[in-house]
Amino acid sequence: MIFRQLFEPESSTFTYLLADAVTKDAILVDTVAAMHERDMEQLSSLGLTLRFIVETHVHADHVTGAALLRKKTGAKVAVSKAGGADGVDRALADGDRLEAGRIVLRALATPGHTSGCTSYLVQGQGVVLTGDALLIRGCGRTDFQQGDARALYGNVRGKLLSLPPETKLYPGHDYKGRTVTTVDEERRLNARLKDGISEDQFVTIMANLKLPKPKMIDVAVPANLKCGEGYVEVQKPGAWVFRLGEGEGGDGI
Ligand SMILES: [Fe+2]
Repeated sequence: MIFRQLFEPESSTFTYLLADAVTKDAILVDTVAAMHERDMEQLSSLGLTLRFIVETHVHADHVTGAALLRKKTGAKVAVSKAGGADGVDRALADGDRLEAGRIVLRALATPGHTSGCTSYLVQGQGVVLTGDALLIRGCGRTDFQQGDARALYGNVRGKLLSLPPETKLYPGHDYKGRTVTTVDEERRLNARLKDGISEDQFVTIMANLKLPKPKMIDVAVPANLKCGEGYVEVQKPGAWVFRLGEGEGGDGI
């Protein structure tokens, strides 16, 4: 399997490229509009054919590159049905499979950060892409987009941290330069979700974060509810570059 973890520094977003090294069929997960030329270059330099552009959720901190990449490659956009986005080619439910060559992603519904959050198990590889449901030593905030701390606790503990301990977890963001973690590490070291923390304790932690409103949310969410379609038209020049404010880092937007 070809596996690349790509980074966008303005929103600290990870984009994942997965491909079958033999058939050259590829999947991109959580693309960023401003980085679509990088993604196209990765595909062409490796001789890959993009089959699916996948989202872990409707993001509030960046605009997806899905529409731009679909236009250039003809790949299908796959997002959870529960996310409510328009213009989706494959609306995913819990347990659904996406295949590109011998790469198989299995959708694990993990709502709580948003109502449509989905993690993706890379079958046979011991790898899960967790989006913002579970971050390294943290988790996505639960105070907008139908966030629900009780649901997040149940889904992360029941569907992610119950996987084999050596399972590698790749998050949607990291604000401190880290790249990957494991089920074992998070069960021991995640300050919010490690073993021994109760659901009620988790709900109290999340209710007391007092995070500022994400700067990009009023642009990003409406654009992402259309898979990024029309984003360039609604943006003023220069406005799509933004920086995270003090205190926003580390909580998954
Ligand atoms: Fe998010």
